[in-house]
Amino acid sequence: MGAEPYYGPDFGLLHRRDPEVAQVLLDELDRLRGGLQLIASENFASPAVLAALGSTLNNKYAEGYPGRRYYAGCEVVDRAERLAIDRARRLFGADHVNVQPYSGASANLAAYAALLQPGDTVLAMELSHGGHLTHGSRVNFSGRWFDVVSYGVRRDTELIDYDEVRELALRHQPKMIICGATAYPREIDFAAFRGIADEVGAWLLADVAHTVGLMAGGALPSAVPYADVVTFTTHKALRGPRGGGIMCTRELAARIDRAVFPFVQGGPLMHAVAAKAVAFGEALQPEFAEYARQVVANAQVLADALAAEGMRPVSGGTDSHLALIDLRDVGVTGAVAEQRCAAAGITLNRNTIPYDPEPPTVTSGIRVGTPCVTTQGMGTEQMKEVASMVAQVIRNPDAVGEIRARVAALTEIHQIYPSEL
Ligand SMILES: Cc1ncc(COP(=O)(O)O)c(C=O)c1O
Repeated sequence: MGAEPYYGPDFGLLHRRDPEVAQVLLDELDRLRGGLQLIASENFASPAVLAALGSTLNNKYAEGYPGRRYYAGCEVVDRAERLAIDRARRLFGADHVNVQPYSGASANLAAYAALLQPGDTVLAMELSHGGHLTHGSRVNFSGRWFDVVSYGVRRDTELIDYDEVRELALRHQPKMIICGATAYPREIDFAAFRGIADEVGAWLLADVAHTVGLMAGGALPSAVPYADVVTFTTHKALRGPRGGGIMCTRELAARIDRAVFPFVQGGPLMHAVAAKAVAFGEALQPEFAEYARQVVANAQVLADALAAEGMRPVSGGTDSHLALIDLRDVGVTGAVAEQRCAAAGITLNRNTIPYDPEPPTVTSGIRVGTPCVTTQGMGTEQMKEVASMVAQVIRNPDAVGEIRARVAALTEIHQIYPSEL
């Protein structure tokens, strides 16, 4: 940085002051560098995003919105929030964007708060078919405070059954319909959801927490022209800091802003808001569209290669960054597969599959995603190698040593956060 007047993270200082925490950071970096990350909801934020996160913007209280704060001294951080909003609006073509939600779950809570009263009826995707906890689970505010009716996927196609969604909407007259999922590999027909919502006079909330990065890169169709409110996260395929956001129509802008602050949240995390601006700026670059396209191509090759190994992708494949793999033909549960892969340095998660006979702690499936490995520069050839390693170690735990060595060879070529720049 030379003589630039910047003050930022100094790892050496942390190491001297707090070696215990410094060691945690080093060990996590080791884990990332030495393993394969196939968790579909994770990514590797860029050094520029991390620099904004590690900045002194962490310190500023800025309750309110740019130009309308409840604290003095916000004129500088206002610029960060305005940049984030302008870039997100350009990226997605949205009328209005709120970049303050702390996470995807907070964004969803604010969306419910803006549009509904407790006790109102909501139609959303069943958790065990790919929905999210905030879409009506009993252990979440959504299931506790709202009357949630769930739709699922068809048993034969494992695709969303739009006839069922319409039938349920006509029968239950929900005030809000939610589309978007956590573990659904296929493109969602937002126009079909819009039509159903219009038919029953419901709000349409698209929760694109998982796919917003693919939307940004043009690798999946955008929900913005169809939904009244779109909630998202910034840390998954979008590759930004941990956090959330909300886009909405001009008519709903004031309601959404009031729901985020002061209803659901307190002061915004201005370092995270600045980091979101950086991430949106990165996603506006042409390289990001290429990245998003490659994420999907990689997921498709990974799913096909696992299918060739006798591991069935739910719905037959994927249109997105993730595949859900049914392991019943291999006779290994999701929980055991997760452990065996972890032992070989491959991090993925067990996942229920639609109509799963196993409980969520065991499951019959795994979920694999390609945002991380694609950020590392891997392409379709490497996905075949990844599929071969995953399949071998799931079938044969004795292969763990050999697979660990193959993982190390691959990550050596495709380094993330290299120790020497
Ligand atoms: C569809 C969906 N909505 C919301 C969330 C919640 O996001 P966060 O973990 O940032 O609260 C997730 C996270 O996985 C998600 O998949």
